[in-house]
Amino acid sequence: MSNPISGFSKLSKTQKIAWLSKNYFKENTQATHVLQRYWNSDTALQKLHDDFIENTVSNYYLPLGIAPNFLVNNDLYAIPMVIEESSVVAAASNAAKFWLDKGGFTTNVISTTKNGQVHINFFGDTKDMTAFFSVVKPILIASISQVEKNMKKRGGGLLDIQLIDSTNSLKGFYQLHCTFETLDAMGANFINTCLEKFAQTIEREAKKFKAFISSQTYPEVVMSILSNYTPECVVRASVSCHVDLLTQKDMEGYVFAQKIVRAIAIAKATPRRAVTHNKGIMNGIDAVILATGNDFRAVEAAVHAYASKDGQYSSLTHGSIENDIFTMWIEIPLALGTVGGLTSLHPLVGFAFDLLQKPNATKLMQLVAVAGLAQNFAALRSLVTTGIQKGHMKMHLMNILNGIQATDTEKASAVDHFTAKQISHSAVISFVEQLRA
Ligand code: MEV
Repeated sequence: MSNPISGFSKLSKTQKIAWLSKNYFKENTQATHVLQRYWNSDTALQKLHDDFIENTVSNYYLPLGIAPNFLVNNDLYAIPMVIEESSVVAAASNAAKFWLDKGGFTTNVISTTKNGQVHINFFGDTKDMTAFFSVVKPILIASISQVEKNMKKRGGGLLDIQLIDSTNSLKGFYQLHCTFETLDAMGANFINTCLEKFAQTIEREAKKFKAFISSQTYPEVVMSILSNYTPECVVRASVSCHVDLLTQKDMEGYVFAQKIVRAIAIAKATPRRAVTHNKGIMNGIDAVILATGNDFRAVEAAVHAYASKDGQYSSLTHGSIENDIFTMWIEIPLALGTVGGLTSLHPLVGFAFDLLQKPNATKLMQLVAVAGLAQNFAALRSLVTTGIQKGHMKMHLMNILNGIQATDTEKASAVDHFTAKQISHSAVISFVEQLRA
């Protein structure tokens, strides 16, 4: 085990790697070599990446793939996806192609309100707190006039502040629940700055409020932070067609449609299936979120909380057959930004935005929702017909071959051989061993 180090962040990148090598790799040069192999020879680009976080020692690559042929509200998109899982981009592309001649995807943004809270302790009389809030509310609003000036000019800003008495859930707990419109910004910085201003204002004004002075009981701010749960920032995407158009190789369209609807019902009925069902949706969503430089942790947290909004963790997608029309849709909260954060810094994010025709935040919400719906349709389509392993292993074949350092000729023979055969890890290895023998 190594000794603790202080001042690690002050070391140069080379010194940091030397320290790692000495303390964790017995000075073995292999580890250093791996880290250095991923340095970018363009020093300006490397510096940009170094500065994204603290203690950068190298870059961690993930593939950027493209899923073309997405018809969304009659416009055609090629969607950028950053993901390591072999079959995700292929599945998205298949789903896009499948729906291309059936009207494509239809989307609409239901709402775009973000929110944050100032969490407050107050152990006095609720009536005093309510009276204080009605006095302080206009002062709170005025206190952020400078902060929200630019946002307001563009049509956004603070929407409202409410006092929420949460003393039934936790003794002495009140919240200032604040709602915002942050337009094309994800809004975290803007919201947190406003909330911290509110917190200072609350504490300052409370000291002057007569009822608090006479009871000698003052509200105390515990913390101020945006909420990543954004159930008022919601987008919907759907696909729909006559069941006859859904006919599969060995399955009638109506039967296939029923199976998809049933698969969704199963995800609604049991969290064990819902988690995997939604994981498949997030394969598509996270990949676009990463490609567009947005915060996938925030999106994941919001989406899964939303999946539980009715009291049980459930499917994020829905399906129906009415008068022989099959419809499948997704409704999810997505707080995204197309300005700020990484969006203007990372050159590949710039590429992704150009590819998507410079979307604003609401357009991006729609495209991300489409990617999630497409991914779910593709997964369910496989699951209720061939099973997922066939397509998944086909895409995974190259990883198995790379894992055993197969040559190009061996790879070509393997791809040829396994076109009509079942792929498994052991089958691929024994095939290549035979070739080598
Ligand atoms: C695999 O990454 C995703 C799936 O398991 C999703 C699902 O089961 O719906 C195929």
